[in-house]
Amino acid sequence: MTNSKEERLPRLLSIQASPRGDKSISHALSNRFIDHWQHAHPHGTVVHRNLMESNIPYMDNDWISGLYGPPEMVRTPEMNAALALSSKLIAELQAADHLLIGTPMYNFTVPAVLKSWIDYIVRPGFTFKWGEGGLLENKVTRVIVTSRDSYGPGTSNEEADQVSPVLRRVLALIGVTDVEFVLAGDSVSVNRGLVKLEDHLALSERAITEAARA
Ligand SMILES: Cc1cc2nc3c(=O)[nH]c(=O)nc-3n(C[C@H](O)[C@H](O)[C@H](O)COP(=O)(O)O)c2cc1C
Repeated sequence: MTNSKEERLPRLLSIQASPRGDKSISHALSNRFIDHWQHAHPHGTVVHRNLMESNIPYMDNDWISGLYGPPEMVRTPEMNAALALSSKLIAELQAADHLLIGTPMYNFTVPAVLKSWIDYIVRPGFTFKWGEGGLLENKVTRVIVTSRDSYGPGTSNEEADQVSPVLRRVLALIGVTDVEFVLAGDSVSVNRGLVKLEDHLALSERAITEAARA
């Protein structure tokens, strides 16, 4: 007899935030991560969520009123659509055992599409409870952040990084605490043609390999 742990095949949800398609360094590094992850989990499945193709709106009044209005309030079709989109994104997250977020840094923080995803998955009663904490459990989460400059520990830019602290804090709110970051900075060398893309990607190979092993 197989137990339920053996029956459950691991599922990786890959969230991608760069608009640059096959020119994107975060996509390329995420693809390498996925290759390593599939090697470590040969029967696992990968679900792709490209945020540039997902049309997640900015948080608006339909979303806020639909969510926080009293239960007896009649929701408009727009409010119900916002709630349904949130439910769909949350279900995708709940079904995942592993989470990969590949994102560029924009103006020291996360791209707007990633912020919109966050705004739709942080939802009381679904992903956290007021005063109690997060409702998601056991999501092994790895985040690949690409940037022009370097923001790693000990660099002069370290404190300017508003990607990792924001993601770490918001993921903790919903119960996701096994989070590690691969900070792949210095893409300026690639953009200036000083370093070949392959050589730049190779600099993160070890960190990516280790991140995918969990
Ligand atoms: C609008 C914009 C804002 C950016 N802001 C920053 C920034 O604050 N710090 C930084 O180091 N790089 C910044 N960059 C550079 C990108 O983070 C960098 O090119 C990254 O490698 C892009 O990732 P991708 O190749 O996956 O698209 C910015 C790029 C753009 C287009």
